[in-house]
Amino acid sequence: STIENGNFEWSAPSNIALVKYWGKKDNQIPANPSVSFTLNNCKTITKLGFEKRENQNSFSFDLLFEGKPKEDFKPKIQKFLERIEIYLPFLKEYHFTIDTQNTFPHSSGIASSASGMAALAMNFMSLEKKLNPEMTEDYFYQKASFLARLGSGSACRSVKGNVVVWGNQANIEGSSDFFGVEFPYAIHENFKNYQDTILLVDKGEKQVSSTVGHDLMHNHPYAERRFAQAHENLDQLITIFENGNLEDFIKVVESEALTLHAMMMTSMPYFILMKPNTLQIINAIWKFRNETQIPVCFTLDAGANVHVLYPENVSAKVLQFIKDELVVFCQNGQYICDQIGEGSIAL
Ligand code: PMV
Repeated sequence: STIENGNFEWSAPSNIALVKYWGKKDNQIPANPSVSFTLNNCKTITKLGFEKRENQNSFSFDLLFEGKPKEDFKPKIQKFLERIEIYLPFLKEYHFTIDTQNTFPHSSGIASSASGMAALAMNFMSLEKKLNPEMTEDYFYQKASFLARLGSGSACRSVKGNVVVWGNQANIEGSSDFFGVEFPYAIHENFKNYQDTILLVDKGEKQVSSTVGHDLMHNHPYAERRFAQAHENLDQLITIFENGNLEDFIKVVESEALTLHAMMMTSMPYFILMKPNTLQIINAIWKFRNETQIPVCFTLDAGANVHVLYPENVSAKVLQFIKDELVVFCQNGQYICDQIGEGSIAL
């Protein structure tokens, strides 16, 4: 090819799953479909410098995290490059400088693999587009999500905005196991600017990685029922997104979060990622909701942190509740205010 050097820069957001992806087949194919809210403030910003090179037998890249060389992330990137090379055959023709930073605090326990892998995939697609300018916008985003999936499954849901479905679901047009798509149907205005306040309960490294967790769904006694349930819950969410019923929304979302953790507790080996303060927060949210009828609920990732979800029109009251009653359960009192956002952006 004729492009000698240059650089691109993309920001990609994190996302929070409502129906959880937990369990996969070969090649990062999900065992069940999932759906997420794309976030707005928790982002990875990655600059990709590229320069044509002589030796083309291996991948060549430098990695900077917040401006400093970061050797321990290199094997993950190396593995990602190996996986995507057949889809981007020019990768060995360039030396890359990958310069990346997150908008959320370093080692906050917020998974940066979704936003990080999405930001990298967007940059590689920009290079592919430079080499093949005729591609359509749809193809660009779809392939970016396809590539991001090969870096980290949930990353394929960070390319597009608002509400994203990943995984084949018969009654969702265009849904695919290979990439995430924007939820294609009506979404009630109750979900406009939906809020996600992330309570940082435990900022430590997880004892069990999500890779290991996904693997433990093989031969899991409840796997088949769980995968079927994810389809049922996604089905319910289609109706809920249309009619805006927040009571039903809360039931599906909290049940999904607890089911995710129930799968961890019932795998062999079993494990627990919640902390005592995770349960304190869940109980306080239930009590507050009972007393006030304010439609606030929680969800969890594969960790101890709690995502507090609520509509924009109750923000003031919920934030006051968070400050008065939940911040005491956060490590160093830390939490992050976020909301639904638009997806990856070229900078
Ligand atoms: O993308 P992974 O392999 O890190 O898996 C993420 C799994 C959960 O965050 C627990 C659920 C989800 O759907 O995001």
